[in-house]
Amino acid sequence: MSTPRPPEMLQPTAAAQARAAQALAEGGLVAFPTETVYGLGADAGNDRAVASIFEAKGRPHFNPLIVHVPDDGAAGRLVTVDERARHAMEMWWPGPLTLVLPRRPDAPLSLLVSAGLDTVAVRCPGHPVARALLAAAGRPVAAPSANRSGHVSPTTPLHVAEEFPDGAGGKLRLILAGGRCPIGLESTVLDLTGERPLLLRPGSVTREELEAVLGPVDRATAADGVKAPGMLTSHYAPALPVRLEAAAPEPDEAFLAFGPDQFIRGGRERLNLSPTGDLHEAAANLFAMLRALDKPGARGIAVMPVPETGLGAAINDRLRRAAAPR
Ligand code: TXA
Ligand code: MG
Repeated sequence: MSTPRPPEMLQPTAAAQARAAQALAEGGLVAFPTETVYGLGADAGNDRAVASIFEAKGRPHFNPLIVHVPDDGAAGRLVTVDERARHAMEMWWPGPLTLVLPRRPDAPLSLLVSAGLDTVAVRCPGHPVARALLAAAGRPVAAPSANRSGHVSPTTPLHVAEEFPDGAGGKLRLILAGGRCPIGLESTVLDLTGERPLLLRPGSVTREELEAVLGPVDRATAADGVKAPGMLTSHYAPALPVRLEAAAPEPDEAFLAFGPDQFIRGGRERLNLSPTGDLHEAAANLFAMLRALDKPGARGIAVMPVPETGLGAAINDRLRRAAAPR
């Protein structure tokens, strides 16, 4: 049994990594930084540990989890890696690309990570703290973003602590505090089980970059429902309503600007994703700024348009979900 208590926040020293690995081995949950967002990790081979991720997040059981591995050899013990998948791994691993591949029948994984599908999403993160944790744990780590289901993803250790003030009933024992996540948007999720690659979630590896290496890539739509269980429309949602494509804020709205905004008047609190219009800076700031503006007092959050090019596609995907009817 676990008693509710706040998770411990530890600098990611070797001693802290060893404690985190021990907590995973005992079936506990550990939050850790990746280059994209913070993950809520569990031993991917332990049914009860994986079940406690779903419980901690309030995540629907039909929504499968990403399994984190140290390298492509470890992935090959979980999923079937064909030539196309190998090529993608060589190009982008370690890094912010998750691949959905056929699950091996002998994969040493809880069935819950696949949520009833015959596939597994595998990701090899590049962040040094995540890599050290995978090495110390010596086992695949299932990890969704470390937020309650439907909320804004965490990009700092404090965000994680805010999401789980009682340590998810004591299951979340510790947070490896590795600073701000440099990319700030979740990994690109690419399904490689069909004839053509299917983009399930846009991310910092863009569709253009994928197509340059893999040929034409389809974009998942509502019609791909079963293959893309994570495509729930409302997601990444702050408590306040979000209004997109705003030229200027209403007097009682908070304002999230992008690009030069010094001549735009009105609104309450204001933050700027990137005053120079840099999409990488905007991605890294997006979730932290949505959280910061999500305070009672304002009627909603008005967001300036962000161009749909390059990383902008992933930023707009998150913004559209944040603004979707709840
Ligand atoms: O950047 C990231 O990917 C972060 C860090 C922690 O690695 N993780 C993350 O996990 O964003 P999560 O659970 O928040 O999002 C995983 C997405 C969901 O949309 C889920 O539906 C999808 O990946 N997914 C996982 N396994 C899948 C599978 N077998 N088939 C299709 N989609 C899958
Ligand atoms: Mg998530």
